[in-house]
Amino acid sequence: KRGWRANLLWFADAAKKELSYLQDGLLITAEGADGVVRIEALGAYQEVRQKYCDVSVTHWPDRCIAPGFIDLHVHYSQTDVIASPAQGLLPWLEQYTFPHEKRFSEIDYASSVARYFLDELQRNGVTTALCFATSHVESVDALMQEAQARRLRMITGKVLQDRFSPDGLRDVDTAQSLQQTQSLIEKWHKKDRLGYAITPRFAPTSSERQLRGCGELAQQYPDVWVQSHAAENKDEIRWVKELYPKARSYIDVYDQVGLLRQRAIYAHCVHIDGEDRDRLADVGASIACSPTSNLFLGSGFFDFAGADEAGVKYGLASDVGGGTSFSPFVTMHAAYTVALQDAGRRSHSLSPHDLWWMHTAGAAQCLGLEGIVGNLLPGCEADFVVINPSATELLKRRTTQAESLEEWLFAMIVLGDDRLISRTVIQGDDYAKVGQAYWPEI
Ligand code: GUN
Ligand code: FE
Repeated sequence: KRGWRANLLWFADAAKKELSYLQDGLLITAEGADGVVRIEALGAYQEVRQKYCDVSVTHWPDRCIAPGFIDLHVHYSQTDVIASPAQGLLPWLEQYTFPHEKRFSEIDYASSVARYFLDELQRNGVTTALCFATSHVESVDALMQEAQARRLRMITGKVLQDRFSPDGLRDVDTAQSLQQTQSLIEKWHKKDRLGYAITPRFAPTSSERQLRGCGELAQQYPDVWVQSHAAENKDEIRWVKELYPKARSYIDVYDQVGLLRQRAIYAHCVHIDGEDRDRLADVGASIACSPTSNLFLGSGFFDFAGADEAGVKYGLASDVGGGTSFSPFVTMHAAYTVALQDAGRRSHSLSPHDLWWMHTAGAAQCLGLEGIVGNLLPGCEADFVVINPSATELLKRRTTQAESLEEWLFAMIVLGDDRLISRTVIQGDDYAKVGQAYWPEI
Protein backbone atom coordinates (compact mmCIF):
# COMPACT_ATOMS: atom_id res chain seq x y z
CA LYS A 1 0.00 0.00 0.00
CA ARG A 2 1.05 3.57 -0.68
CA GLY A 3 -0.30 6.98 0.19
CA TRP A 4 -0.41 10.11 -1.94
CA ARG A 5 -0.99 13.43 -0.22
CA ALA A 6 -2.09 16.45 -2.27
CA ASN A 7 -5.26 18.33 -3.14
CA LEU A 8 -7.75 15.98 -4.81
CA LEU A 9 -10.05 16.43 -7.79
CA TRP A 10 -12.48 13.65 -8.74
CA PHE A 11 -16.09 12.72 -9.46
CA ALA A 12 -17.27 11.84 -5.96
CA ASP A 13 -20.76 10.94 -7.19
CA ALA A 14 -20.29 8.65 -10.18
CA ALA A 15 -23.77 9.52 -11.46
CA LYS A 16 -23.06 13.27 -11.65
CA LYS A 17 -20.91 15.19 -14.08
CA GLU A 18 -19.55 17.27 -11.26
CA LEU A 19 -16.02 17.46 -9.92
CA SER A 20 -15.33 17.56 -6.20
CA TYR A 21 -12.27 19.36 -4.87
CA LEU A 22 -10.64 18.54 -1.58
CA GLN A 23 -7.85 20.61 -0.05
CA ASP A 24 -5.09 18.45 1.48
CA GLY A 25 -6.40 14.98 0.77
CA LEU A 26 -4.89 11.52 0.99
CA LEU A 27 -5.25 8.83 -1.64
CA ILE A 28 -4.41 5.22 -0.75
CA THR A 29 -3.42 2.74 -3.46
CA ALA A 30 -3.00 -1.02 -3.02
CA GLU A 31 -1.98 -3.88 -5.27
CA GLY A 32 -4.64 -6.55 -5.71
CA ALA A 33 -4.15 -10.32 -5.92
CA ASP A 34 -4.30 -9.92 -9.72
CA GLY A 35 -1.31 -7.57 -9.67
CA VAL A 36 -3.39 -4.52 -10.59
CA VAL A 37 -2.92 -1.44 -8.39
CA ARG A 38 -6.23 0.15 -7.42
CA ILE A 39 -7.44 3.02 -5.30
CA GLU A 40 -8.49 1.78 -1.88
CA ALA A 41 -9.51 4.96 -0.14
CA LEU A 42 -9.45 8.73 -0.37
CA GLY A 43 -10.49 11.62 1.80
CA ALA A 44 -9.24 14.38 4.07
CA TYR A 45 -5.59 13.79 5.04
CA GLN A 46 -6.05 13.68 8.82
CA GLU A 47 -9.00 11.32 8.64
CA VAL A 48 -7.56 8.81 6.18
CA ARG A 49 -4.12 8.91 7.81
CA GLN A 50 -5.59 7.59 11.07
CA LYS A 51 -6.72 4.41 9.35
CA TYR A 52 -3.52 4.06 7.34
CA CYS A 53 -0.86 5.14 9.81
CA ASP A 54 1.78 2.67 8.53
CA VAL A 55 1.79 3.41 4.82
CA SER A 56 4.55 5.50 3.26
CA VAL A 57 3.18 8.75 1.90
CA THR A 58 4.38 10.88 -1.01
CA HIS A 59 3.50 14.51 -0.34
CA TRP A 60 2.98 17.07 -3.08
CA PRO A 61 1.86 20.31 -1.45
CA ASP A 62 0.25 22.83 -3.84
CA ARG A 63 -0.34 20.11 -6.39
CA CYS A 64 -3.61 18.49 -7.34
CA ILE A 65 -4.16 14.79 -8.01
CA ALA A 66 -6.84 14.15 -10.65
CA PRO A 67 -7.93 11.14 -12.74
CA GLY A 68 -5.73 10.31 -15.73
CA PHE A 69 -7.27 11.49 -18.98
CA ILE A 70 -8.74 9.12 -21.57
CA ASP A 71 -8.20 9.79 -25.28
CA LEU A 72 -11.16 8.14 -26.97
CA HIS A 73 -9.72 8.22 -30.49
CA VAL A 74 -6.12 8.69 -31.59
CA HIS A 75 -3.81 7.25 -34.27
CA TYR A 76 -0.35 6.43 -32.90
CA SER A 77 0.76 5.91 -36.48
CA GLN A 78 -0.02 9.57 -37.24
CA THR A 79 2.23 11.04 -34.55
CA ASP A 80 4.45 12.38 -37.34
CA VAL A 81 1.56 13.36 -39.63
CA ILE A 82 0.39 16.04 -37.19
CA ALA A 83 0.36 19.54 -38.73
CA SER A 84 0.13 18.40 -42.37
CA PRO A 85 -2.11 20.92 -44.15
CA ALA A 86 -4.60 19.73 -46.76
CA GLN A 87 -7.89 20.70 -48.37
CA GLY A 88 -10.11 18.48 -46.28
CA LEU A 89 -10.12 14.86 -45.15
CA LEU A 90 -9.81 12.90 -48.40
CA PRO A 91 -6.82 14.83 -49.85
CA TRP A 92 -5.19 14.73 -46.40
CA LEU A 93 -5.52 10.94 -46.29
CA GLU A 94 -4.21 10.50 -49.81
CA GLN A 95 -1.36 13.02 -49.69
CA TYR A 96 0.04 12.52 -46.20
CA THR A 97 -1.57 9.84 -44.09
CA PHE A 98 -1.73 6.78 -46.33
CA PRO A 99 1.85 7.18 -47.62
CA HIS A 100 3.15 7.64 -44.07
CA GLU A 101 1.26 4.67 -42.59
CA LYS A 102 2.96 2.31 -45.07
CA ARG A 103 6.11 2.58 -42.97
CA PHE A 104 4.52 0.65 -40.09
CA SER A 105 5.11 -2.71 -41.80
CA GLU A 106 8.59 -2.45 -40.20
CA ILE A 107 8.33 -3.50 -36.57
CA ASP A 108 11.42 -1.58 -35.45
CA TYR A 109 10.10 1.63 -36.95
CA ALA A 110 6.64 0.99 -35.44
CA SER A 111 8.18 0.33 -32.01
CA SER A 112 10.22 3.52 -32.05
CA VAL A 113 7.12 5.58 -32.89
CA ALA A 114 5.09 3.68 -30.26
CA ARG A 115 7.67 4.60 -27.60
CA TYR A 116 7.62 8.26 -28.52
CA PHE A 117 3.81 8.26 -28.77
CA LEU A 118 3.37 6.74 -25.31
CA ASP A 119 5.91 9.16 -23.85
CA GLU A 120 3.88 11.98 -25.35
CA LEU A 121 0.54 10.64 -24.03
CA GLN A 122 1.93 10.28 -20.54
CA ARG A 123 3.69 13.64 -20.61
CA ASN A 124 0.26 15.13 -21.38
CA GLY A 125 -1.53 13.16 -18.67
CA VAL A 126 -3.31 10.65 -20.90
CA THR A 127 -3.33 7.25 -19.21
CA THR A 128 -5.77 5.30 -21.41
CA ALA A 129 -6.41 5.55 -25.15
CA LEU A 130 -8.52 3.89 -27.80
CA CYS A 131 -5.98 3.91 -30.56
CA PHE A 132 -5.74 3.11 -34.27
CA ALA A 133 -2.65 1.17 -35.36
CA THR A 134 -2.21 0.59 -39.13
CA SER A 135 -3.20 -2.29 -41.40
CA HIS A 136 0.03 -4.10 -40.51
CA VAL A 137 0.01 -6.78 -37.81
CA GLU A 138 3.47 -5.52 -36.80
CA SER A 139 2.03 -2.12 -35.91
CA VAL A 140 -0.31 -3.71 -33.36
CA ASP A 141 2.39 -5.92 -31.85
CA ALA A 142 4.68 -2.89 -31.51
CA LEU A 143 2.19 -0.74 -29.59
CA MET A 144 0.86 -3.60 -27.45
CA GLN A 145 4.39 -4.61 -26.40
CA GLU A 146 5.34 -1.06 -25.45
CA ALA A 147 2.08 -0.47 -23.57
CA GLN A 148 2.41 -3.78 -21.74
CA ALA A 149 5.95 -2.89 -20.60
CA ARG A 150 4.56 0.35 -19.15
CA ARG A 151 1.56 -1.45 -17.57
CA LEU A 152 -0.83 0.83 -19.43
CA ARG A 153 -4.51 0.30 -20.06
CA MET A 154 -4.36 0.65 -23.83
CA ILE A 155 -6.79 -0.47 -26.52
CA THR A 156 -5.78 -0.81 -30.16
CA GLY A 157 -6.32 -2.92 -33.26
CA LYS A 158 -5.18 -3.65 -36.78
CA VAL A 159 -6.84 -1.35 -39.31
CA LEU A 160 -8.92 -3.15 -41.93
CA GLN A 161 -8.93 -1.53 -45.37
CA ASP A 162 -9.17 -3.74 -48.45
CA ARG A 163 -9.96 -1.17 -51.15
CA PHE A 164 -9.28 2.41 -52.31
CA SER A 165 -5.97 2.32 -50.48
CA PRO A 166 -2.42 2.26 -51.85
CA ASP A 167 -0.24 -0.82 -52.24
CA GLY A 168 1.59 -1.49 -49.03
CA LEU A 169 -1.35 -0.36 -46.93
CA ARG A 170 -4.31 -2.14 -48.56
CA ASP A 171 -5.31 -5.57 -47.26
CA VAL A 172 -4.66 -7.72 -50.33
CA ASP A 173 -6.70 -10.62 -49.04
CA THR A 174 -9.97 -9.89 -47.21
CA ALA A 175 -10.23 -13.31 -45.55
CA GLN A 176 -6.66 -12.99 -44.32
CA SER A 177 -7.31 -9.52 -42.84
CA LEU A 178 -10.12 -11.02 -40.78
CA GLN A 179 -7.98 -14.00 -39.70
CA GLN A 180 -5.23 -11.60 -38.66
CA THR A 181 -7.77 -9.67 -36.62
CA GLN A 182 -8.93 -12.82 -34.88
CA SER A 183 -5.37 -13.96 -34.14
CA LEU A 184 -4.55 -10.54 -32.68
CA ILE A 185 -7.66 -10.68 -30.48
CA GLU A 186 -6.53 -14.07 -29.16
CA LYS A 187 -3.00 -12.80 -28.68
CA TRP A 188 -3.64 -9.46 -26.98
CA HIS A 189 -7.19 -8.94 -25.70
CA LYS A 190 -7.26 -8.87 -21.88
CA LYS A 191 -3.53 -9.60 -21.64
CA ASP A 192 -2.61 -7.64 -18.52
CA ARG A 193 -4.41 -4.31 -19.00
CA LEU A 194 -4.52 -4.41 -22.81
CA GLY A 195 -7.65 -4.52 -24.89
CA TYR A 196 -8.34 -5.17 -28.55
CA ALA A 197 -10.53 -3.15 -30.90
CA ILE A 198 -11.85 -4.41 -34.24
CA THR A 199 -10.84 -1.49 -36.46
CA PRO A 200 -12.32 -1.08 -39.95
CA ARG A 201 -10.85 2.27 -41.09
CA PHE A 202 -14.12 3.68 -42.47
CA ALA A 203 -16.86 2.52 -44.81
CA PRO A 204 -15.23 3.69 -48.10
CA THR A 205 -12.02 1.67 -47.67
CA SER A 206 -13.70 -1.61 -46.72
CA SER A 207 -15.58 -3.94 -49.03
CA GLU A 208 -18.98 -4.99 -47.78
CA ARG A 209 -17.51 -8.44 -47.25
CA GLN A 210 -14.81 -7.05 -44.96
CA LEU A 211 -17.34 -5.03 -42.95
CA ARG A 212 -19.58 -8.10 -42.61
CA GLY A 213 -16.59 -10.10 -41.41
CA CYS A 214 -15.90 -7.42 -38.80
CA GLY A 215 -19.53 -7.58 -37.71
CA GLU A 216 -19.28 -11.35 -37.26
CA LEU A 217 -16.15 -10.98 -35.14
CA ALA A 218 -17.87 -8.25 -33.13
CA GLN A 219 -20.64 -10.71 -32.34
CA GLN A 220 -18.26 -13.55 -31.57
CA TYR A 221 -16.21 -11.39 -29.17
CA PRO A 222 -18.73 -9.16 -27.38
CA ASP A 223 -16.24 -7.65 -24.91
CA VAL A 224 -13.80 -6.65 -27.65
CA TRP A 225 -14.14 -3.02 -28.75
CA VAL A 226 -15.12 -1.76 -32.21
CA GLN A 227 -13.75 1.53 -33.56
CA SER A 228 -14.13 3.35 -36.85
CA HIS A 229 -14.80 6.76 -38.39
CA ALA A 230 -18.24 8.02 -39.41
CA ALA A 231 -19.83 11.08 -41.01
CA GLU A 232 -16.81 13.33 -40.66
CA ASN A 233 -16.71 15.22 -43.94
CA LYS A 234 -19.25 16.09 -46.65
CA ASP A 235 -17.20 14.66 -49.57
CA GLU A 236 -16.63 11.48 -47.62
CA ILE A 237 -20.37 11.16 -46.94
CA ARG A 238 -21.20 11.62 -50.65
CA TRP A 239 -18.72 8.85 -51.45
CA VAL A 240 -20.30 6.49 -48.93
CA LYS A 241 -23.72 7.17 -50.45
CA GLU A 242 -22.37 6.10 -53.86
CA LEU A 243 -20.70 2.99 -52.49
CA TYR A 244 -23.60 1.92 -50.27
CA PRO A 245 -26.71 3.20 -52.11
CA LYS A 246 -29.10 1.01 -50.12
CA ALA A 247 -28.06 2.32 -46.71
CA ARG A 248 -30.28 5.01 -45.18
CA SER A 249 -27.26 6.86 -43.82
CA TYR A 250 -23.56 6.47 -43.12
CA ILE A 251 -24.33 5.13 -39.63
CA ASP A 252 -26.78 2.68 -41.21
CA VAL A 253 -23.91 1.12 -43.22
CA TYR A 254 -22.34 -0.01 -39.94
CA ASP A 255 -25.70 -0.98 -38.50
CA GLN A 256 -26.50 -3.25 -41.46
CA VAL A 257 -23.33 -5.29 -40.92
CA GLY A 258 -23.69 -5.69 -37.16
CA LEU A 259 -21.11 -3.09 -36.11
CA LEU A 260 -23.40 -0.97 -33.94
CA ARG A 261 -23.33 -2.25 -30.41
CA GLN A 262 -22.03 -1.44 -26.94
CA ARG A 263 -18.28 -0.91 -26.88
CA ALA A 264 -18.44 0.43 -30.47
CA ILE A 265 -16.96 3.92 -30.71
CA TYR A 266 -17.34 6.03 -33.84
CA ALA A 267 -15.07 9.00 -34.35
CA HIS A 268 -16.54 12.35 -35.45
CA CYS A 269 -20.25 11.82 -36.31
CA VAL A 270 -20.38 15.52 -37.19
CA HIS A 271 -23.02 15.17 -39.91
CA ILE A 272 -25.59 12.72 -38.54
CA ASP A 273 -29.33 13.10 -38.10
CA GLY A 274 -31.81 12.44 -35.32
CA GLU A 275 -32.52 8.92 -36.49
CA ASP A 276 -28.80 8.08 -36.40
CA ARG A 277 -28.50 9.53 -32.90
CA ASP A 278 -31.50 7.57 -31.65
CA ARG A 279 -30.08 4.38 -33.11
CA LEU A 280 -26.63 4.95 -31.55
CA ALA A 281 -28.31 5.62 -28.21
CA ASP A 282 -30.57 2.55 -28.47
CA VAL A 283 -27.73 0.13 -29.10
CA GLY A 284 -25.40 1.79 -26.58
CA ALA A 285 -22.72 2.78 -29.11
CA SER A 286 -20.66 5.93 -28.51
CA ILE A 287 -19.15 8.89 -30.32
CA ALA A 288 -15.55 10.10 -30.02
CA CYS A 289 -15.69 13.84 -30.53
CA SER A 290 -12.46 15.34 -31.87
CA PRO A 291 -12.79 19.12 -32.03
CA THR A 292 -9.19 20.03 -32.95
CA SER A 293 -9.30 17.59 -35.84
CA ASN A 294 -12.70 18.78 -37.04
CA LEU A 295 -11.41 22.36 -37.01
CA PHE A 296 -8.05 21.56 -38.62
CA LEU A 297 -9.52 19.46 -41.45
CA GLY A 298 -12.52 21.76 -41.88
CA SER A 299 -14.95 18.94 -41.12
CA GLY A 300 -17.53 20.90 -39.14
CA PHE A 301 -18.94 21.42 -35.66
CA PHE A 302 -20.16 18.55 -33.48
CA ASP A 303 -23.76 18.98 -32.27
CA PHE A 304 -23.44 18.54 -28.50
CA ALA A 305 -27.03 19.54 -27.79
CA GLY A 306 -28.33 17.02 -30.34
CA ALA A 307 -26.26 14.23 -28.78
CA ASP A 308 -27.52 15.13 -25.28
CA GLU A 309 -31.12 15.22 -26.42
CA ALA A 310 -30.89 11.75 -27.95
CA GLY A 311 -28.93 10.42 -24.97
CA VAL A 312 -25.97 9.22 -27.04
CA LYS A 313 -22.80 8.66 -25.07
CA TYR A 314 -19.79 10.66 -26.21
CA GLY A 315 -16.33 11.57 -25.03
CA LEU A 316 -13.38 13.68 -26.12
CA ALA A 317 -10.53 12.63 -28.34
CA SER A 318 -7.43 14.19 -29.89
CA ASP A 319 -7.59 12.31 -33.22
CA VAL A 320 -3.90 13.03 -33.72
CA GLY A 321 -2.71 13.32 -36.59
CA GLY A 322 -5.92 14.97 -37.89
CA GLY A 323 -6.05 16.59 -34.46
CA THR A 324 -3.42 19.15 -33.59
CA SER A 325 -2.54 18.44 -29.95
CA PHE A 326 -2.03 15.56 -27.54
CA SER A 327 -3.05 17.78 -24.63
CA PRO A 328 -6.47 17.11 -23.08
CA PHE A 329 -6.58 20.78 -22.06
CA VAL A 330 -6.27 21.92 -25.66
CA THR A 331 -8.99 19.44 -26.69
CA MET A 332 -11.34 20.56 -23.90
CA HIS A 333 -10.77 24.19 -24.85
CA ALA A 334 -11.57 23.43 -28.50
CA ALA A 335 -14.72 21.53 -27.48
CA TYR A 336 -15.87 24.54 -25.48
CA THR A 337 -15.32 26.87 -28.43
CA VAL A 338 -17.06 24.54 -30.89
CA ALA A 339 -20.09 24.01 -28.67
CA LEU A 340 -20.65 27.77 -28.59
CA GLN A 341 -20.85 27.94 -32.41
CA ASP A 342 -24.35 28.07 -33.65
CA ALA A 343 -23.64 26.31 -36.98
CA GLY A 344 -27.29 26.59 -37.96
CA ARG A 345 -28.28 24.67 -34.85
CA ARG A 346 -28.29 25.63 -31.19
CA SER A 347 -25.24 26.93 -29.45
CA HIS A 348 -24.46 25.12 -26.25
CA SER A 349 -22.36 26.19 -23.29
CA LEU A 350 -20.27 23.38 -21.83
CA SER A 351 -19.26 23.84 -18.21
CA PRO A 352 -15.73 22.97 -17.05
CA HIS A 353 -17.26 20.03 -15.19
CA ASP A 354 -18.86 18.74 -18.42
CA LEU A 355 -15.61 19.13 -20.35
CA TRP A 356 -13.49 17.37 -17.74
CA TRP A 357 -16.03 14.55 -17.46
CA MET A 358 -16.03 14.03 -21.24
CA HIS A 359 -12.27 13.42 -21.13
CA THR A 360 -12.24 11.16 -18.01
CA ALA A 361 -15.24 9.42 -16.40
CA GLY A 362 -17.53 10.08 -19.38
CA ALA A 363 -15.02 8.61 -21.81
CA ALA A 364 -14.68 5.60 -19.48
CA GLN A 365 -18.44 5.14 -19.69
CA CYS A 366 -18.22 5.09 -23.50
CA LEU A 367 -15.65 2.30 -23.22
CA GLY A 368 -17.74 0.35 -20.72
CA LEU A 369 -14.95 0.94 -18.17
CA GLU A 370 -16.80 3.15 -15.71
CA GLY A 371 -15.57 2.57 -12.18
CA ILE A 372 -12.34 1.13 -13.63
CA VAL A 373 -10.61 4.14 -15.19
CA GLY A 374 -11.34 7.87 -15.45
CA ASN A 375 -12.02 8.49 -11.76
CA LEU A 376 -10.44 8.18 -8.30
CA LEU A 377 -13.25 6.38 -6.51
CA PRO A 378 -12.23 3.33 -4.47
CA GLY A 379 -11.96 0.36 -6.83
CA CYS A 380 -10.68 2.43 -9.75
CA GLU A 381 -7.31 1.51 -11.18
CA ALA A 382 -4.55 3.78 -9.91
CA ASP A 383 -3.72 5.92 -12.95
CA PHE A 384 -3.63 9.60 -12.12
CA VAL A 385 -2.10 12.94 -12.96
CA VAL A 386 -0.47 15.49 -10.69
CA ILE A 387 -1.47 18.96 -11.78
CA ASN A 388 0.49 22.13 -11.10
CA PRO A 389 -2.03 25.00 -11.38
CA SER A 390 0.87 27.49 -11.23
CA ALA A 391 2.82 25.90 -14.06
CA THR A 392 3.09 29.17 -15.98
CA GLU A 393 2.99 32.74 -14.76
CA LEU A 394 -0.33 33.39 -16.50
CA LEU A 395 -1.87 30.20 -15.10
CA LYS A 396 -0.65 31.12 -11.65
CA ARG A 397 -2.12 34.63 -11.85
CA ARG A 398 -5.43 33.36 -13.17
CA THR A 399 -5.87 30.27 -10.97
CA THR A 400 -4.93 32.06 -7.74
CA GLN A 401 -7.50 34.76 -8.49
CA ALA A 402 -10.30 32.30 -9.28
CA GLU A 403 -13.31 32.82 -7.02
CA SER A 404 -14.96 29.46 -7.52
CA LEU A 405 -14.11 25.89 -8.49
CA GLU A 406 -15.64 26.60 -11.93
CA GLU A 407 -13.40 29.60 -12.53
CA TRP A 408 -10.32 27.70 -11.39
CA LEU A 409 -11.07 24.72 -13.68
CA PHE A 410 -11.96 26.97 -16.56
CA ALA A 411 -8.66 28.86 -16.31
CA MET A 412 -6.78 25.56 -16.58
CA ILE A 413 -8.89 24.39 -19.53
CA VAL A 414 -8.37 27.62 -21.49
CA LEU A 415 -4.74 28.33 -20.57
CA GLY A 416 -3.43 24.83 -19.96
CA ASP A 417 -1.25 22.46 -21.93
CA ASP A 418 1.38 19.80 -21.20
CA ARG A 419 3.08 22.12 -18.70
CA LEU A 420 0.13 21.71 -16.32
CA ILE A 421 0.96 18.04 -15.82
CA SER A 422 3.76 17.70 -13.26
CA ARG A 423 3.61 13.93 -13.25
CA THR A 424 1.63 11.01 -14.53
CA VAL A 425 1.38 8.04 -12.18
CA ILE A 426 0.56 4.68 -13.76
CA GLN A 427 -0.31 1.83 -11.45
CA GLY A 428 1.27 3.60 -8.53
CA ASP A 429 4.54 4.05 -10.45
CA ASP A 430 6.05 7.33 -11.38
CA TYR A 431 6.19 7.28 -15.13
CA ALA A 432 9.86 8.30 -14.97
CA LYS A 433 10.70 4.73 -14.02
CA VAL A 434 9.22 3.16 -17.13
CA GLY A 435 9.53 5.85 -19.76
CA GLN A 436 12.08 8.54 -20.19
CA ALA A 437 12.94 10.62 -17.15
CA TYR A 438 10.97 13.67 -18.18
CA TRP A 439 9.87 14.82 -14.79
CA PRO A 440 11.84 17.30 -12.80
CA GLU A 441 11.56 17.24 -9.01
CA ILE A 442 8.41 18.93 -7.77
N1 GUN B 1 -11.22 8.61 -41.96
C1 GUN B 1 -10.59 7.51 -42.40
N2 GUN B 1 -9.32 7.45 -41.99
C2 GUN B 1 -9.14 8.55 -41.23
C3 GUN B 1 -8.02 9.05 -40.50
O1 GUN B 1 -6.95 8.48 -40.46
N3 GUN B 1 -8.22 10.21 -39.83
C4 GUN B 1 -9.41 10.88 -39.84
N4 GUN B 1 -9.53 12.00 -39.16
N5 GUN B 1 -10.47 10.43 -40.53
C5 GUN B 1 -10.33 9.28 -41.21
FE1 FE C 1 -9.25 9.40 -36.73
